[in-house]
Amino acid sequence: MSNDPLLQPYTLKHLTLRNRIIVTSHEPAYPEDGMPKERYRAYTLERARGGVALTMTAGSAAVSKDSPPVFNNLLAYKDEIVPWIREMTDAVHEEGAAIMIQLTHLGRRTRWDKGDWLPVVAPSHHREASHRSFPKKMEDWDIGRIIRDFADAAERMKAGGMDGVELEAYGHLIDQFNSPLTNELDGPYGGSLENRMRFCFDVFKAMRARVGDDFILGVRYTADECLPGGTGKADGIEISRRLRDSGLIDYLNVIRGHIDTDAGLTDVIPIQGMANSPHLDFAGEIRAATQFPTFHAAKIPDVATARHAIAAGKVDMVGMTRAHMTDPHIVRKIIEKREEDIRPCVGANYCLDRIYQGGMAFCIHNAATGREQTMPHTIAKADIRKKVVIVGAGPAGLEAARVAAERGHAVVVFEAANNPGGQIRLTAQSERRREMISIIDWRMSQCEKLGVTFHFNNWADADMIAAEEPDVVIIATGGLPHTEVLSKGNELVVSSWDIISGDVKPGTNVLIFDDAGDHAGLQAAEFIAKTGAKVEIMTPDRSFAPEVMAMNLVPYMRSLQKFDVTFTVTYRLQSAEKSGNQIIAHVGSDYGGVEKQRTVDQIVINHGTIPLDDLYFEMRLGSRNLGEVSYDQLISGVPQTAERNPAGTYQLFRIGDAVAARNTHAAIYDALRLAKDI
Ligand SMILES: Cc1cc2nc3c(=O)[nH]c(=O)nc-3n(C[C@H](O)[C@H](O)[C@H](O)COP(=O)(O)O)c2cc1C
Ligand code: SF4
Repeated sequence: MSNDPLLQPYTLKHLTLRNRIIVTSHEPAYPEDGMPKERYRAYTLERARGGVALTMTAGSAAVSKDSPPVFNNLLAYKDEIVPWIREMTDAVHEEGAAIMIQLTHLGRRTRWDKGDWLPVVAPSHHREASHRSFPKKMEDWDIGRIIRDFADAAERMKAGGMDGVELEAYGHLIDQFNSPLTNELDGPYGGSLENRMRFCFDVFKAMRARVGDDFILGVRYTADECLPGGTGKADGIEISRRLRDSGLIDYLNVIRGHIDTDAGLTDVIPIQGMANSPHLDFAGEIRAATQFPTFHAAKIPDVATARHAIAAGKVDMVGMTRAHMTDPHIVRKIIEKREEDIRPCVGANYCLDRIYQGGMAFCIHNAATGREQTMPHTIAKADIRKKVVIVGAGPAGLEAARVAAERGHAVVVFEAANNPGGQIRLTAQSERRREMISIIDWRMSQCEKLGVTFHFNNWADADMIAAEEPDVVIIATGGLPHTEVLSKGNELVVSSWDIISGDVKPGTNVLIFDDAGDHAGLQAAEFIAKTGAKVEIMTPDRSFAPEVMAMNLVPYMRSLQKFDVTFTVTYRLQSAEKSGNQIIAHVGSDYGGVEKQRTVDQIVINHGTIPLDDLYFEMRLGSRNLGEVSYDQLISGVPQTAERNPAGTYQLFRIGDAVAARNTHAAIYDALRLAKDI
């Protein structure tokens, strides 16, 4: 038996967990009609197959109708959920993992215009900034009803075969009761800590009475809100002890911080560029103070840190949640002594930011996550070995190379630059976004293991490709910044890439016109502002940088608000003209009727890329399919069979930004879904 601390079993009450790694509750927003159907089950099962000890499904499954889903949560208040849960728990158990579910009432952390349009409730009228609802202050009948709802939902989960239930307290109704900042009730449920915690204990008592003792109950709660006047560390330790002493629960899942604002949430669940494992020591303090089973997750992305968390006795079970979205087979690879093969979570937070915009959680560089029914995490060998030539070693080209090589093909990659990475290499120029380079590094090391041949500093042309006698050619040449967006004066502007790459020195008084709304605009702004320059970011959109999304915006705002940066929304840069050593920018609006001017010494445009597609069009003539892709075949996951040119000698495809400017996930998805069927 291994002596790896991570691989030691753990006994939680009657439950034996096969190792120390868990996936903590998270709602990937895959439910259909509020139920965990096939997609949900396949996602959960993949992690169980990968070896995790305990998978906690369903972040925040709703127990009541007045806790309507804000990110497509499961509806635990419906009886029809039981058979769906049963199918999932049976499948997970067969793989040897334990499975629990998180139940919640969101309280004020939702919206009244969802679900059944019921008023949002909380123990005060204070609004939560993130979800914007002004809550109804709860009455006694609300309290009684919601306690019953928790017990009913717990009973459903037990009937569905779950090993246990975790209460999601932090930021949700239970902690809204616990915190003096959000509880303004009088009488038995408000005032003293004892009164404020009464709701939590009443919920646990009602659940325990319903599910009996042979069922795990736990709580995920904040033991330090990090807010003036809120639950502080001393209160948190007291809360932890009271939870333990209640005899009602089996473990604590420790959170530090508050989630009522985007900034607060991002400190609780840090993203790339922020410190790793920032709350691990704190969780260790709670474990030491309570001597009670303690779980914790917060940016523990790598096995070494997880191993330390267990070996140092900080926690009993360590959460690697986003890490499992990037690679569901972490435990299997640890057991097989292949840690270097683990696809690293780069903290891009594309997964979490998407769900707050109503999307499904997808991992920026594992396109199979959440698509387990159609996309493989493990690539199958092809029957026939082919020669595959790929042009471009950005994320799309490298993913295509990795997948084609896993298929067993002979793969050759040409890249014009002296390094792989394409736009990612540029992105990683920002210190805060440095982790992005692992998207490239991991693929390079996989490709090298698989014997892919690379030709860097090689501007591939048709002859060079023909000399390889390819069966398949994939053009992944990406794009170049598109700055020709003005009616006059395009020659006066530079691109956001010019700034980020360092090719162009920042001006002293700069207008950034950003209608792509992605990272590059804000990265350029940060580079320029750091030199002490005056910066204005202007966009015709209703909000700036919409593609960056909520949690990713936090570090930018923390940086840019300290500098002299102005944000101007709903205005469009129309033209530019030279005036001495200055540039006059003419500004209008899509709403019409306004004309403004700015006098600056530099205009930076962030408007995405235009495809670098000359080689593709050159190669079309010699191809069998003339570049055609059958979308039906692509979507249904079968090989491409278009034959449009009998004289052609190879199949030709184009992926990523060489087709149209999109993002890293789209580029990698393009590559995976094409190459897996070559
Ligand atoms: C897509 C997504 C949804 C999440 N939803 C929940 C949730 O509903 N409840 C919860 O307690 N935590 C939720 N989390 C937080 C995770 O459980 C975990 O605490 C967080 O991702 C930090 O751990 P990690 O760095 O290992 O990912 C969510 C995380 C992700 C990525
Ligand atoms: S999107 Fe980023 S943070 Fe989320 S799982 Fe993937 S790599 Fe990790």
